[in-house]
Amino acid sequence: MLSGLELPDFRPTSPLRMPDAVRDPAFAYEVGEGPLGVDEVARVLFAAQGCTGRAWGRCLRAAPSAGATYPLQLYVAVNHVEGVEPGVYKYVSPAPFKHMLAPVEQRLPPGRGAVTVYIEEISERTTSVYGERGYMYVREEVGHAVQGAMLECSILGLAARLRALEPPVGRVRYCIDVGPRGRRLSERGVAAGRLPEPAPALLTLEEAIAARRSVRRYRREPLSLSEVSALLSWSLQGEPRPYQPPAGRYEVECYLVVRDVKGLEPGVYRYLPGENDLEMAASGDRSRRLAEACLGQEWVARAALNVVLSSRGGEAAEVEAGMVGQGIYLAATSLRLGTVAVGAFYDDEVASELGARGRPLYVLPVGRP
Ligand SMILES: Cc1cc2nc3c(=O)[nH]c(=O)nc-3n(C[C@H](O)[C@H](O)[C@H](O)COP(=O)(O)O)c2cc1C
Repeated sequence: MLSGLELPDFRPTSPLRMPDAVRDPAFAYEVGEGPLGVDEVARVLFAAQGCTGRAWGRCLRAAPSAGATYPLQLYVAVNHVEGVEPGVYKYVSPAPFKHMLAPVEQRLPPGRGAVTVYIEEISERTTSVYGERGYMYVREEVGHAVQGAMLECSILGLAARLRALEPPVGRVRYCIDVGPRGRRLSERGVAAGRLPEPAPALLTLEEAIAARRSVRRYRREPLSLSEVSALLSWSLQGEPRPYQPPAGRYEVECYLVVRDVKGLEPGVYRYLPGENDLEMAASGDRSRRLAEACLGQEWVARAALNVVLSSRGGEAAEVEAGMVGQGIYLAATSLRLGTVAVGAFYDDEVASELGARGRPLYVLPVGRP
């Protein structure tokens, strides 16, 4: 057992929901220097990598992981947290909803704000299973962890900024500065668009963080257009979108492969986040062919709809796809819908099904569990 600072067990207490988190996002503010309370820091870390359940003799985490290989390790540089000695700590969550900080001698650049969360990528955990493809998965997982932490910061009323380390420090390429809110940096504009009012979130954000799991079995029931509107609005809609772009500009495009949504003809649609609008790209149900392009994964064929993310960008776009992916998981969970991140597919076949520009990064089937 590691010795260190035990953090309070994670329990959902905030009444705020996903629409609250995206309305006033943490990344829209300058990060102040503190102090923060230890419970706030604990919640932010938990939302990124906390243990939320056990399977196959290991912890499942708040963020999904390709083949449950869990390549990420978080470190925290504490500058100004009440009751915590400044220094570098390793984040450990060894059992469901339990977690701690273990002091370590880790050479990391001094943090900014009250704390800086460093994300170490132990890529070989994933590439030893998935080969070269595993590097994309790891970067997507960085995005999942970042967006989990960012959304939690948003409902706690904190400020947070994602930062890329240039050059990387060892295997750490991204970090998040967290602190109290300073000056507001950007205003979020959200167009009404043509999609209906989003369906209400049935769970609080923290309940969704605790409950998120990959779901691969869906009932043969349609989704409503207001559910689709909620999924898109909490993960992608607006200018800026509800997440900070890792490349400094948004690089991810979003397509919907619709099979069974009330009020939407089956087909392929491009989603325009700035306008909150859907543009039909092809008609007819393509979900069976999309499933074949995903190595025959049946959940892709059976889902009411598949969200497909693609980009012409590089590695930062893969992180961005993970941020959107985490938004879709938490939105689906909040709506009592199910989704699973699918990274295993033939890129060229998925791209040709969609007529997509760029390289496909993720397929996320969504249905009613
Ligand atoms: C980058 C990435 C790629 C994934 N690819 C697939 C996939 O192709 N098929 C699948 O069924 N699940 C896939 N998953 C889901 C993982 O299997 C799942 O997250 C993991 O088993 C942990 O379970 P949980 O998400 O329920 O916590 C992927 C997850 C990630 C993050």
